[in-house]
Order: sequence, then C-alpha cells, then structure tokens
Amino acid sequence: MSQSAQAVAGHYKKRALGDAILAALKAAGKDIERLTPDDLAPVDEFHSGGRNATVRLAQLAGITGSERVLDVGCGIGGPSRYLASTFGCRVTGLDLTQEFVALAGMLAQRTRLADKVTYRQGNALAMPFADASFDLVWSQNAAMNIADRDRLYGEMRRVLAPAGRLAFQDVAAGPGGDPHYPTPWANDKGISFLATPQSTRAALERIGFRVLAWHDSTQEALEQQLARAKALEGGSLPPLGLHILIGEAYPAVTKNMLRNLQEQRIRLLNAVLERV
Ligand SMILES: C[S@@+](CC[C@H](N)C(=O)[O-])C[C@H]1O[C@@H](n2cnc3c(N)ncnc32)[C@H](O)[C@@H]1O
Repeated sequence: MSQSAQAVAGHYKKRALGDAILAALKAAGKDIERLTPDDLAPVDEFHSGGRNATVRLAQLAGITGSERVLDVGCGIGGPSRYLASTFGCRVTGLDLTQEFVALAGMLAQRTRLADKVTYRQGNALAMPFADASFDLVWSQNAAMNIADRDRLYGEMRRVLAPAGRLAFQDVAAGPGGDPHYPTPWANDKGISFLATPQSTRAALERIGFRVLAWHDSTQEALEQQLARAKALEGGSLPPLGLHILIGEAYPAVTKNMLRNLQEQRIRLLNAVLERV
C-alpha cells in the first residue's frame, strides 16, 4: 500500500470497532443474532445525511434491482446492504481499510445478506476488477480522501459496462476557504482533497461521463448537522451512532462540520452520470 493510502486507512481504522458496534446494538435493545439493515442504519451509513441520503441517491440513480453494483469506498457497508435488501441487486464493496472490509463481511452475515453482498480490500485508484464488470458504480463520501480524481474517475469508467451509470455523493470545496479540521474524513489537510463542484464536473466529463442529474444538497446537510450539534449539546447521544466510528474526536468533528457548512467551506453534491 502506498504511504498516502496507509495514512487514509490509518485514519479510519479503530480498535475493536466490531465489538463496540455489537455492544451498542445490544444496549439499543437489538437482537445481535438477527439484525436487519434498518437496525444498523444509525451506525453503518458513514456519510452526510445517513440512510436518507442513501435512499435519495438510489432514487436519483433509478435502481431497478438487476444491476451489478460496485460501491467504491464502501466503509462498513451500510449502503451496500440497503441496496441489496431493498432492490435485490448484487453489490460488491471495495474499501482501502481492511478493518472496515472485515466488519462489513461480519455485518452481512448477521443480516443474512452474505449471498448478495461481498467486500474486497483495495484501492479505488487501481481496482481489482475486470473492465466493464459492473452496471452501476456507487460511491458516497469517499473521493474527499483521493487526490488523483482523473485516475479515480478513469477507474470508475473502466469497470463500468457501456452505458453503465455512476451515482455518487461527495463533499466538495466551497468558496469559504479551507475546512476546519478534524472532519469525519481527515484530522488535518494531509489526507483531505476536496474539489469544487465545477472542477468535479469538468473532470468527469473529460474522462467520459455524461451528467444525468446534478444536485447540490448542502441545505439538507446543514439541517442534519444542526440536529446533530443540538443532540451533542443536550448530551443526548443515542447508544448507536456515528460517534462509534469517529471516536473521541466526535464532538470536535460535529462542531466543525456545522461551521464548515455554515461558512460555505464545504458543499454536498449528489450526481448521477452515464458512461459515454
Ligand atoms: C467516510 S467513509 C464512507 C464509507 C461509506 N461510503 C459510507 O457512506 O458508509 C470513506 C471511506 O472511503 C474509503 N476510502 C478512502 N480512500 C479510498 C481509496 N483510495 N480506495 C478505496 N477506499 C477508500 C475509506 O477507507 C472509508 O471507508
């Protein structure tokens, strides 16, 4: 693994994350031998907007269920299990962080979805998949850690079948200046590579995609972040939530994300494109 890939995986890796999640599920009154994707949603949808954002992107992408889906930067796999259980499609998740890949597999077993979802460790910049092997490439809040966007989008295009689609959500750079750190994706600017919506779109079109839908969902992200900051202030964190994935930086991350959105340092993008 390259040095920068190691730094990204090191940022996300947390000690005994699986045990912490299972303990929190128990504390939330869930039967950990019979879990559903809905039980896990508060902790396994690691992106702005949580499950609601996944539902919205799936609608935007017009998923029918027959697609072979690749989730790039799949994390611990919440979106992939939602897509597989809701639409019946087969989903492969790819992630740099080995601990996340192992945990995603364990949660697929416990939700009885292991026949529909599989997870691989690997780098989105050199994907371990043959050309044209997927109908839909899906990615939520992963490109912020990736500097070489041309190569990322080139790889996404390479693994897509002709007329395949790319559906993504990403944090983009806003006009307000550099983000305040720590954020969920980086403790400092060393592994943070935000691109503006304009340069993101230009790169995708240059690489060989046609835009089908392009939405700025910053306002929804701001509303959700306000609710998270309020819950934190009130000291009312539920047993199950993203604080388990983010760890002790959670209070600072929550406050910074609110400031970053309010000060227009970041924007949230949702888009669907077709391979041309
Ligand atoms: C904020 S998490 C989002 C996880 C997941 N997409 C979700 O929404 O729940 C970002 C993920 O991107 C992964 N990632 C970052 N850079 C990557 C790369 N070059 N190749 C593969 N995965 C990467 C990280 O390991 C991490 O799991």
